[in-house]
Amino acid sequence: MFDFRPHLGINQRGHLTMGGADLVELAEKFGTPLYVYDEQRIRERYREFRDAFASYGDVLICYACKANTSLAVLSILRDEGAGADIVSEGELYLALKAGIPAEKIIFTGNNKTDRELERAVEAGVIINLDSLHELERLIEIVEARKAEARVSFRVNPEVSPETHPHLATGLRESKFGIHEEAVLRAYERALACSYLDVAGIHMHIGSQITSTEPYVEATRRLFDIMGRLRRELGLELEFADLGGGVGIRYSAEQPYITPAQLAGALLPLIEEKLAEHSLPKPRLLLEPGRYIVGDAGVLLARVYTVKTTPYRKFAGCDAGFNLLLRPAMYGSHHEVVVANKAALPAEEEVTIAGNLCESGDLLAKHRRLPRIEKGDVLAILDAGAYGFVMSSQYNSRPRCAEVLVNRGMAELIRYAEDFKDLLEKQLVPERLR
Ligand SMILES: Cc1ncc(COP(=O)(O)O)c(C=O)c1O
Repeated sequence: MFDFRPHLGINQRGHLTMGGADLVELAEKFGTPLYVYDEQRIRERYREFRDAFASYGDVLICYACKANTSLAVLSILRDEGAGADIVSEGELYLALKAGIPAEKIIFTGNNKTDRELERAVEAGVIINLDSLHELERLIEIVEARKAEARVSFRVNPEVSPETHPHLATGLRESKFGIHEEAVLRAYERALACSYLDVAGIHMHIGSQITSTEPYVEATRRLFDIMGRLRRELGLELEFADLGGGVGIRYSAEQPYITPAQLAGALLPLIEEKLAEHSLPKPRLLLEPGRYIVGDAGVLLARVYTVKTTPYRKFAGCDAGFNLLLRPAMYGSHHEVVVANKAALPAEEEVTIAGNLCESGDLLAKHRRLPRIEKGDVLAILDAGAYGFVMSSQYNSRPRCAEVLVNRGMAELIRYAEDFKDLLEKQLVPERLR
């Protein structure tokens, strides 16, 4: 449990700690449910990724904001020198608010609105185009405004990583990216527009990937396409973006890869391909999200109801898929620790039930845990990525607070919503009052 999560531990009171902070104390101080993140762990994971690829030279890590857009988290990564991969005008707003420089921001997304394209042009970020149609729409905008834009294209490398079907994005039939047969046309058309600086190429094959093979296959395709662009259009691109997707260890049994293994598999291949196609060395962009913030976050929930049926024992807690959607959406596994009994042995099998009126609202099934009682604090691990960002107010439950721990010190980084937030932006027509 703790060997690959070195930021977690157990203190003398037998409580689970993260980044030196007692999680049971945090649950008491800030209330539950509560998201808690460890700043030093985020920095450590970012540096691990950066250092793994450092020997290449010119590398920019564009943190995939969608994994966790809390302003404090974005600010940590800005502080580390990261850029950002964004997919919406909202993420653009947040990344700029966090002080990430526009030139380090790449705007991907398969269905940008006209307004999003306009905002991206105004902000001066790299616009990563997903289709010929999107290119035509951008050309209309830049020509009308006589404004320049730096662009790249997302290509679909047609590989299938072994991951949840909803997390594979580079499949032949996927909605993402431009297929190879249309890539040359796309670049040719973009080059013909004098307002466009045609700077890069991009791929992103999926998320929670646990082997290097699909990356190797896709990177080979990407650099072969770059070779064709040089040969057929005389185009030498400034950057190649390999996307994100490196998985994390949600359990000890699950296969995994490290950034160092990924770099070990890709960097020699890239050198080989650059030589084969006589290409100048492009800047390398990488877009990890989950790897950087995933295991740096836990969701704390308090047990209120313990219920034994003829079939199962349930621990009913004060969080549900309104706060952590992954188990309900992908059938994802998250380890659960009873934070106030972290040193006690497992005694019984329990299913952790959320508090929503949905039978699919089970945060963890059939777990061996110490004897569960009312008041216990459950720590749902590895909830830092695709956790709070996917939360909702379903069942009219206001969203919870977020806390950032730094070397044992805890600070609130987001207030919990209250009932007024349930009314926020709502209007009742006069006749119904
Ligand atoms: C374009 C793009 N880049 C990067 C990522 C980050 O993926 P992950 O969090 O798995 O690293 C995603 C996530 O789906 C993505 O769509």
